[in-house]
Amino acid sequence: MPSILVTGGTGYIGSHTCIALIENGCDVTVVDNLSNSSAAVLDRIKKITGKKPLFHKVDLLDAKGLAAVFKARAFDAVIHFAGFKAVSESMSAPLDYYHNNIAGTLNLCRLMQAHDASTLVFSSSATVYGDAAVSPVTEASPLAPASPYGRTKLMIEMILRDIAMSNPAFRVSLLRYFNPAGAHESGLMGEDPRGTPNNLMPCISQAAVGRLPRLNVFGNDYPTPDGTGIRDYIHVMDLAEGHLKALEHIGRTGAIAAYNLGMGQGHSVLELIAAFENASGRKVPYVFTRRRPGDVAVLYADPAKANAELAWKAARGIETICTDTWRWQKGNPEGYEGS
Ligand code: WQD
Repeated sequence: MPSILVTGGTGYIGSHTCIALIENGCDVTVVDNLSNSSAAVLDRIKKITGKKPLFHKVDLLDAKGLAAVFKARAFDAVIHFAGFKAVSESMSAPLDYYHNNIAGTLNLCRLMQAHDASTLVFSSSATVYGDAAVSPVTEASPLAPASPYGRTKLMIEMILRDIAMSNPAFRVSLLRYFNPAGAHESGLMGEDPRGTPNNLMPCISQAAVGRLPRLNVFGNDYPTPDGTGIRDYIHVMDLAEGHLKALEHIGRTGAIAAYNLGMGQGHSVLELIAAFENASGRKVPYVFTRRRPGDVAVLYADPAKANAELAWKAARGIETICTDTWRWQKGNPEGYEGS
């Protein structure tokens, strides 16, 4: 049974990936500092899969604490999610982002090398492409991140590329997510950001359930059919399954490879609101406000490389994303802590 270490495994994408790993016969160990997630999700994973991952409350900046995790058991592979991930926050606290995301990754890589763990799947982001990206975005598109958050992701990609070049045994898959959304079909797990959400889907679902008074639609004057921003929303379970495929195929196309994980089509904010109202039977109260600084009009993936090389294709559309999100939000109006 493959032993997988998941850093950031109590987070939104990490916890859903744990489900996919366990359901595919993996033994999962989670490391998380719980700075932006709840350990309650571990019990939900057990309810869904019958197995509770081994959990260590450890910050990747705590090299000693992390070393103890590697001493406790051997890992066949590591999936690395842990990191700060709010674009706007990174603009006001760049030093925290560079220190946390990069130093934490360096600690992880050092321990992987010391313990002969040489397979790594890294949670990267479409934000490495920046504002100039022309959709549909391929992996060959220029890499020009427009925020400290995006730059930490690109810098880590470059660090991992250098390690892979220096150590032939080290194999890496860089997964560049577009817009993760949705929830596990059981309604037991979902996106549960601390405080006021940044991302669109939790803002919609919290407005629908009454946890937010309304959704602010950031601009309706973009050069798009209905004037609102267009993004590539990918179901979090499609994303989770993409990590399994990346593990399965790692190293087959060389020491390191980057893949866009997206649907390959875009939907506007208003289209998502309409889909959510249809799925939930609830009205989503919203108002148009000014554009959010740094937002681009259109960004969606060309996932052809992942489709071909990973034999992976996102299968769940925005209707399923909305239905699954509503089932989670309706059953957990205050998230995990409220349960
Ligand atoms: C989507 C659309 C907004 C909120 C972010 C980050 C990055 C990445 C993906 C990890 C845009 C509009 C949003 C709201 C709105 N994740 N919007 N009202 O900005 O595309 O990307 O998530 O790497 O963290 O870059 O996602 O969900 O914030 O915005 O109108 O309250 O929804 O303008 O058009 P974004 P988002």
